[in-house]
Amino acid sequence: MSHSKVIVALDFPGEKKAMQLVEKLDPELCRLKVGKELFTRCGPSLVKKLVASGFDVFLDLKFHDIPNTVAKACESAAELGVWMLNVHSMGGAAMMAAARHVLNYDDAPLLIAVTLLTSSGEKELGALGINETPADFVKRLAMMAKQAGLDGVVCSAQEAAMLKQQCGSDFLLVTPGIRPENASVDDQNRIMTPKRAIENGSNYLVIGRPVTQSDDPVRVLTAINADIGFAS
Ligand code: C5P
Repeated sequence: MSHSKVIVALDFPGEKKAMQLVEKLDPELCRLKVGKELFTRCGPSLVKKLVASGFDVFLDLKFHDIPNTVAKACESAAELGVWMLNVHSMGGAAMMAAARHVLNYDDAPLLIAVTLLTSSGEKELGALGINETPADFVKRLAMMAKQAGLDGVVCSAQEAAMLKQQCGSDFLLVTPGIRPENASVDDQNRIMTPKRAIENGSNYLVIGRPVTQSDDPVRVLTAINADIGFAS
């Protein structure tokens, strides 16, 4: 199993492009995230292929449905051999508990919840009739996830220190929106460097374009790993 805290987001339109990158990488350098775009196009066979190549795979499908359906989806995902998977915390406490119930055995995949997507803020919450600040909302959903027995949450690195304090040091924090010094910001707006995010309490960094769009992804990953004190 890899010890790197970096999870590379394989945000590609298909298997060919994804594998062109993966073939340059090593499971010691990073873990991999498969999201909705790649999964919807390539399905379970690609996930199994990545797992068989020795990579820890985070299946980022953010399940959100009635508890029974989410529990069955989690069971199916676990059969692919993934290292981590997620549900959407806005599906509620019963849904998260149902997911935990089926993933409650030794070496089950890590089960985490998305709190509030970084594309949503105060305005979007207000439109849903939720009159809470994004920070309070995230805190409340993270506590709900913890109480349902989940292993952690996806959150912004800006929220990491507050959530570590609130949810305890064992509760995993997985943070996207990470940019090494001098990297392009792209469409992310609240970014943080790898080192700062780890200092803030992040356990795993989700990093996409700074690696996937680089001419030398191995060099970028090696530099990030060194920056956060992990030499492969
Ligand atoms: O390319 P970049 O590093 O911005 O990619 C970040 C990855 O993290 C993408 O796969 C994106 O969908 C995901 N993500 C995010 N913000 C969230 C949740 C997931 O950027 N709140």
